[in-house]
Amino acid sequence: MHTKALLLASIPAATAAETILGAYIFSRHGDRTTKAYSPTKLTALGAEQVYLSGSWYRSRYIDEKSSTRINGISSDLADLTELAVTAPADNVLQGSAGFFLQGLYPPAGSVNSQKLANGTTIEAPLSGYQYIPVNSATVTSRGSNQAESSAWLQGNSGCPAAVNSSQAYYQSKEYFELLGSTKEFYQSLLPVYESTFPSESATFKNAYSIFDYIHVSTIHNTSIPSSNLLTPSNLQTLSDLANIHEFGLGYNASSPIRAVAGSVLASHIVSTLNSSISSSSSQKLNIQFGPYGTFGSFFGLSQLPAVSSDFTAIVDYASSMTFELFTTSSSSSPSENEVFVRFLFANGTASDSNPAKVYPLFGQDKTELPWTTFVSEMNKIALEGGSKEWCNACGEKTGQCADYYPAESAGVAAAAKSGNGMSNAVAGVIGAMVTLGVVLGLQALILGVGGLRLTKRRKQDPSEVFQVPAGKTSFSDTSSTQKA
Ligand SMILES: *[C@@H]1O[C@H](CO)[C@@H](O)[C@H](O)[C@H]1NC(C)=O
Ligand SMILES: *[C@@H]1O[C@H](CO)[C@@H](O)[C@H](O)[C@H]1NC(C)=O
Ligand SMILES: *[C@@H]1O[C@H](CO)[C@@H](O)[C@H](O)[C@H]1NC(C)=O
Ligand SMILES: *[C@@H]1O[C@H](CO)[C@@H](O)[C@H](O)[C@H]1NC(C)=O
Ligand SMILES: *[C@@H]1O[C@H](CO)[C@@H](O)[C@H](O)[C@H]1NC(C)=O
Ligand SMILES: *[C@@H]1O[C@H](CO)[C@@H](O)[C@H](O)[C@H]1NC(C)=O
Repeated sequence: MHTKALLLASIPAATAAETILGAYIFSRHGDRTTKAYSPTKLTALGAEQVYLSGSWYRSRYIDEKSSTRINGISSDLADLTELAVTAPADNVLQGSAGFFLQGLYPPAGSVNSQKLANGTTIEAPLSGYQYIPVNSATVTSRGSNQAESSAWLQGNSGCPAAVNSSQAYYQSKEYFELLGSTKEFYQSLLPVYESTFPSESATFKNAYSIFDYIHVSTIHNTSIPSSNLLTPSNLQTLSDLANIHEFGLGYNASSPIRAVAGSVLASHIVSTLNSSISSSSSQKLNIQFGPYGTFGSFFGLSQLPAVSSDFTAIVDYASSMTFELFTTSSSSSPSENEVFVRFLFANGTASDSNPAKVYPLFGQDKTELPWTTFVSEMNKIALEGGSKEWCNACGEKTGQCADYYPAESAGVAAAAKSGNGMSNAVAGVIGAMVTLGVVLGLQALILGVGGLRLTKRRKQDPSEVFQVPAGKTSFSDTSSTQKA
């Protein structure tokens, strides 16, 4: 007994010998309304989910008392130079990021107050509420050498080869087999959803849309027509089929470009964590919100399905994956071979009862990879958005890519060059936006391919991000700022 207690007690001490240098969190949004009806909105339940997840990450990385606190990170008042938070211009993802941040840095009360020249003390409203900008322009998440020009932003940030690859899913043997074998299943559930998915739409082609509609309804609707048809087994089948469909669109081992969203994410993770190591940067925590499709693409590329087939499934709302950079050295500037990366994943809201757990990436037997191994494995799957390699792999020759194909689009290339006078800070922000734009633009395209074209009263599917048109909305805002 006594020995056991001692052993257990020694575990936190061993952990404490580690110093966390930085982390990168990629999170899905919380519970939302169905994509079948526009506009999709974050629900109160969804806000609670991401808020709780943010609180859990606070207890892991920010809290002064945490043994796994990120080295030197500000505990009470958010220091914007230490954070990079990005979410696409989508209300569900933006809102999720906002609530997550309230968990991470809750209102600080009198700590968030100031003394004025005349002696009066003013506390920020809402109990010292902390406003942490999402897509903050105060941080750069990529090196200035990786800056992209505005021509890229204004061009189509999609990846044609990836769209082609996803489209090929609809021509695959796997797809046709399921389309046929599930026909009766989907028709048998018509009484539940025919108001929204009439007979001709009730097929495997719309596996995700149907699943989403039913899934949301089972959470929010007190009554569902013919709900007796929604047996646990039928609900499971709807979910399984949606998982197969979405993983099919997001990843195919023999066509890695299909998972380009995961590749661009991988590149962003490496460059971001690398900047946390380099002493020139104060950035310690990078938080991105994005769609489940990016999780799936990254899971496929990093060989997580070999660890568990669960990694081929759509992740739950508010799920998060985290890349934790740490050192076992007590030196203030550890050498590269004393730095390690650990991957964690929480399916659904991270909390004490559902903590993020470690998993081995890249078929390795260890969950703690030396930084150099991590980088070389990540680089095998990474594509930096807008880089020459990306342009090549995507078969894209316009926009920023025109720079690499001068003969083919001299005019566009010349326009791109005129934007080179931007400051490094602005360039870095734009770089981050481009990276994200690439991830999200691709999602938009994939989803477009998967295309739900249902009844007329439904406007364009509002989705998580997906319909942010490539190079539009927030991205063009960024580029106009840059021009100003
Ligand atoms: C001090 O300055 C603030 C801001 O101008 C003002 O609202 C407040 O009334 C002043 N207090 C006193 C005691 O003058
Ligand atoms: C996409 O597919 C079309 C038709 O098969 C082909 O013509 C085009 O070159 C492909 N584009 C890319 C970027 O792979
Ligand atoms: C994956 O790619 C291979 C080779 O192109 C193809 O035969 C297979 O049908 C694809 N599978 C899916 C699910 O798209
Ligand atoms: C659930 O309720 C919403 C809002 O009233 C409705 O649009 C939807 O059709 C319902 N779902 C089902 C399965 O009936
Ligand atoms: C990390 O950053 C340093 C300094 O900017 C750079 O020389 C190095 O190549 C980067 N390493 C990786 C893996 O990106
Ligand atoms: C996450 O949970 C969903 C069910 O809610 C499941 O289908 C999926 O396999 C889980 N994923 C992982 C990686 O555990």
